[in-house]
Amino acid sequence: MAIKQVMVIGAGQMGAGIAQVFAQSGLRVKLNDLNEEALHKGVEGIKKRLHKAVEKEKMTESEKQQVLENLEAATDLRAASECDLIIEAVVEKMEVKTKVFQSLDAVAPDHAILASNTSSLPITEIAAVTNRPSQVIGMHFMNPVPVMKLVEVIRALQTSDETFEAIKQMTEKLNKTPVEVNDFPGFVSNRILMPMINEAIYTVYEGVSSVEDVDKVMKLGMNHPMGPLTLADFIGLDTCLSIMEVLHEGFGDSKYRPCPLLRQYVKAGWLGKKSGRGFYSYE
Ligand code: CAA
Ligand code: NAD
Repeated sequence: MAIKQVMVIGAGQMGAGIAQVFAQSGLRVKLNDLNEEALHKGVEGIKKRLHKAVEKEKMTESEKQQVLENLEAATDLRAASECDLIIEAVVEKMEVKTKVFQSLDAVAPDHAILASNTSSLPITEIAAVTNRPSQVIGMHFMNPVPVMKLVEVIRALQTSDETFEAIKQMTEKLNKTPVEVNDFPGFVSNRILMPMINEAIYTVYEGVSSVEDVDKVMKLGMNHPMGPLTLADFIGLDTCLSIMEVLHEGFGDSKYRPCPLLRQYVKAGWLGKKSGRGFYSYE
């Protein structure tokens, strides 16, 4: 099946980045969000990044215009009726994602593939709420999407080989590297990354060291590009907590218990960079 027209649901930091890389690869992409302000912000963010790329001479003005022509803001989910691939990138909550997948299943053409950018939730359970489970798959991009090379491609129990191959090829077309992963909580990336971030939060919670110094240890001592608490703020503390909850519940192992300080920050609305405050302040 040729994938020509793509739709991305959710125009937050991930959805906007995903839409950008598809548009840059010459595919037509529709970007949708429930919230019109978020949709506008997502599109403006893409324009700003493309403008910067032109300034840095990494792209010409006419290439930028072509990318923008490939991109369309779509306020109505029914626009999915014209798409071959639809990627969901809404909040990390199973009840929200299953509703989105049921709605998409009702409007998307029969041949369309429905993919989720979930960080940790079971693709098998998402696939089961649709009438096309063999055409449901995980396509897990990394943040920031335009920069990071990896896409975890997650097979649900029901995913067909045809669907897997189509998504693997599409990932390569985006100039990214697909890695095949089976459907277990947190997949590979967040099963390894998120306990490290959670442990960094415990280190602050238990008074072992300060936020800045924990980050310094991992940046200067382990050569990580960002310290774990900067990275947590970058990902979004709500997303980090949701992932830890999925790991905790999915494995039933206390080693994945979310740090109480992480819960408290999310309750306070301190979600990191996107809300202006997390472990650091962002003006
Ligand atoms: N969006 C798009 N592009 C961005 C960006 C953003 N938010 N931030 C930086 N960039 C681009 C810059 O424009 C620049 O591009 P060019 O080289 O083309 O000019 C490039 O990235 C490097 O940027 P900088 O020189 O300003 O900054 P840097 O060298 O410090 O790199 C970084 C920034 C790439 C984000 C780096 O700090 C990094 O790799 N951090 C770790 C990111 C990471 O671990 N991501 C995974 C998160 S976990 C995840 O995604 C999975 C999940 O489910 C939670
Ligand atoms: P975000 O909070 O920045 O954006 C989520 C967007 O979804 C918001 O704009 C919201 O308005 C929209 N939305 C919510 N319900 C919707 C619906 N029913 N229909 C359409 N839009 C809806 O979140 P994000 O960081 O972009 O994360 C999105 C998904 O990507 C999550 O599943 C997350 O786990 C995953 N993910 C996040 C990261 C990361 O580093 N933040 C990395 C990889 C994957």
